Amino acid sequence: MKLWGGRFEEGPSEVFERFSGSLHFDRRLIDADIRGSQAFARALEGVKILTAAERAELVSAFDAIRDQARGSEFFNGATDEDVHTLVIRKLKERVGSLADKIHTGRSRNEQVSLDIRLWLRDEIDRAAELLINLMLALIVCADRYPNAVVPGYTHMRRAQAVLWPHYLLAYFEMFARDFERIQETRARVNVMPLGSGALAGSGFPFDREAMARDLGFASVTNNSMDVSADRDFALDFLYAASTTMVHLSRLAEDWILYSSEEFGWLELGDGVTSGSSLMPQKKNPDSLELIRGKCGRVFGSLSSLFVTMKGLPTTYNRDMQEDKEPLFEAADQLSGSLEMACAVVESVRLYPERPAAAAEMSWVVATDLAEALARNGTPFHQAHQIVGRLVLESVSHGRTPADWTPDALVKFAPEFTPEMAKLLQPSEGMKTREIRGGTGPNAVVAALGEAETRLERFRQMAKK
Ligand code: ARG
Repeated sequence: MKLWGGRFEEGPSEVFERFSGSLHFDRRLIDADIRGSQAFARALEGVKILTAAERAELVSAFDAIRDQARGSEFFNGATDEDVHTLVIRKLKERVGSLADKIHTGRSRNEQVSLDIRLWLRDEIDRAAELLINLMLALIVCADRYPNAVVPGYTHMRRAQAVLWPHYLLAYFEMFARDFERIQETRARVNVMPLGSGALAGSGFPFDREAMARDLGFASVTNNSMDVSADRDFALDFLYAASTTMVHLSRLAEDWILYSSEEFGWLELGDGVTSGSSLMPQKKNPDSLELIRGKCGRVFGSLSSLFVTMKGLPTTYNRDMQEDKEPLFEAADQLSGSLEMACAVVESVRLYPERPAAAAEMSWVVATDLAEALARNGTPFHQAHQIVGRLVLESVSHGRTPADWTPDALVKFAPEFTPEMAKLLQPSEGMKTREIRGGTGPNAVVAALGEAETRLERFRQMAKK
């Protein structure tokens, strides 16, 4: 069946049908398409194109089609151009000529916008829930090792000591922004386009607000041409998904390193690692590598749709059919990666003595010492020089901070006081960083509490 044809003397060629058909992928929108069409049937009753009885017959036929579509046979042998055409064909098979009224005053251009919005809204809600699970897993992991001290890195060199919960809360912040970003995306997705027609606005006086309420949309679109032309909401989702993937990938990268023999801080659960077919000793972090690897697909989806949209004349062009596969791909990889990351975080075990030793063996306390000198009146630049010399002296004689006694420190430079020697312990210097957002132990406890409150707020937002 076709939704057009009167103007043609010949049918489409086999190659064109094969090339242009989208059913093999847009069938994924079938629930959304049916839901939208049921609301549209109610709107058609509102403008007296359908009687109440006709509307009821159509709505229940759609219900039956939805049930039938759950079966494995449903799509077998279907050659319809797209999911919208298929649904109307199935409707016609059930209700006969009454089905010819369903597309009154409606275009597939607005229908496809509606379907994607309905589908994407659910995908967003799923991603939001998975983000919440991941944020919770991070908090639980932080609570398991409240006092663990780890070196923080810049340039992948030991920089300053931080608390393990502080490190995990950095990721909490990233995923919290991701949560907010995806809610902002949701707000732009959650706008009802029906009534726009092909591009000029429908010729029937539909109650668009009622349709929006019927389908759970917060508002209606403002301009019919914009509706046919717009895929910004899809790009917003792909950008939000890409940013989340960046965060997941960086966490993966950290933990691949931290769980290596070279670091040896972390043990990933057996359930999220795999062995080697040849090397019996191997326990590989494949789950994390795959999260890192799947970024390519999601970033690729974002650039794919950008390129598709760029330079398209206003309004709808068939190029836009190419929006769906990148969206499906990104949504699948995003939810899969979020779910996997959560399982990894839940499985992980920290050996706190190992990062603590790494911190003690290095000069992560150097900044603490320089700042202590500055607090005591030495201009910071000079303090920096003094501690720099202390580090140089130590590393050239193989000494660690613990090798310095209070006396030796004061002897090295008179600006030091004996009390400053306690800062040679990484966990001591941290206590000077009680500033909001810092790694001071009290600041971190407060931040954890605040994170829990925020998570609760996110849960409430996600429920609505
Ligand atoms: N399958 C099409 C798509 O996904 C539906 C819209 C078709 N509209 C049209 N004017 N050919 O974009």
